[in-house]
Amino acid sequence: MSAGEAQAILEPAATRVRDPLSGRSLWLAGLIKDPKIDGDTLSFTLTAQPKHSTDDLGRMREALLRNIEGLGWKGSVQCSVRPALAQGDADKAPVRGMEAGGMQPHGGPIAKGPIPGVKRIVAVASGKGGVGKSTVATNLAVGLALTGWKVGLMDADIYGPSVPTMLKVSGRVYANADQKILPHEAHGIKAMSIGFMVDDKEPIIWRGPMVMGIVKQFLQDVDWGELDVLIVDMPPGTGDAQLTMVQAVDITGAIIVTTPQDVAVIDAVRGLEMFRKLDVPVLGVVENMAYMDLPDGSRIHPFGQGGGRRAAEEYQVPLLSEVPLDGSVREGGDAGRPVVLDDTGAGRVFREIADVVQQALR
Ligand SMILES: Nc1ncnc2c1ncn2[C@@H]1O[C@H](COP(=O)(O)OP(=O)(O)OP(=O)(O)O)[C@@H](O)[C@H]1O
Ligand SMILES: [Mg+2]
Repeated sequence: MSAGEAQAILEPAATRVRDPLSGRSLWLAGLIKDPKIDGDTLSFTLTAQPKHSTDDLGRMREALLRNIEGLGWKGSVQCSVRPALAQGDADKAPVRGMEAGGMQPHGGPIAKGPIPGVKRIVAVASGKGGVGKSTVATNLAVGLALTGWKVGLMDADIYGPSVPTMLKVSGRVYANADQKILPHEAHGIKAMSIGFMVDDKEPIIWRGPMVMGIVKQFLQDVDWGELDVLIVDMPPGTGDAQLTMVQAVDITGAIIVTTPQDVAVIDAVRGLEMFRKLDVPVLGVVENMAYMDLPDGSRIHPFGQGGGRRAAEEYQVPLLSEVPLDGSVREGGDAGRPVVLDDTGAGRVFREIADVVQQALR
């Protein structure tokens, strides 16, 4: 199969392992060559520099295999180690015992466990795409940090990560000595996204089990430190990422985002139903793009009126807020400066959401 798919697994895995010689990740140090998937075997070459000791190579290889496994690769792995100066001369590899196939297929259920130091986990979700989940998640996270809480924002959208843009953070993340990934920081919060691991112009191709592996890693293998709350920006729908979240950790509560029109509400409610069926408390509904205030002082409802309120009433959960459709919200998102940083207009509405959510979580 394609080298592209092999790279989609190897790049994030090799990004998390540090080369002790250059101090860079194995990926950026260019030590991974010839990624390939053949049947269910992932193969690649780990190129060794002359100064790498046998121990270095053993440690790099092991950490790499662990990360490939952690990302959800279920097939076998063939990792050859080859000295950089003698490329193509595999028979003379100086490190014996490194050429054999490594991991075997594995599986098993995801073990549920708390994230040490993280007091609460809140999922921002909707069965519907494009309704403003990432906008609400980002502004809520930054808004809670403005109140003094220690906050993390986890981007569980593996196919379409938004957090790097919405916070204007980019660049690779690295693992520390304990193999925990160090999240980025921006606007007073810690943030983790698949966008910090893969090139944002490349199409991201993940198999279902890999989505589950990555979400699990973001929860359990990131050095979140002490957090009052971890906000999770969920992808649209009710798929692998949602299921993994529910299986891997106890979610303190879910916030459902919808826009006012019926077609959106019907989809959004599917997300609400899913959390309810899985015994996750629903903190409430945010109706986004609820109205628009015009310069002449009048208010219009471009997407209809009251869908969020009706859904909240039907499911007997609070309507947390009605957020206006406002250019400043989109501009803030695109510029990586969440509108909640301003205590005016839509920014103030998001500050109020942060207060209401904080009350609900106390
Ligand atoms: N209240 C608002 N006013 C104006 N623009 C908004 C508002 N809420 C969201 N947007 C804009 O709408 C677009 C979609 O929002 P966002 O990415 O948050 O949705 P999403 O539900 O996370 O989408 P996806 O399902 O693709 O993850 C973004 O460009 C965002 O800036
Ligand atoms: Mg989103």
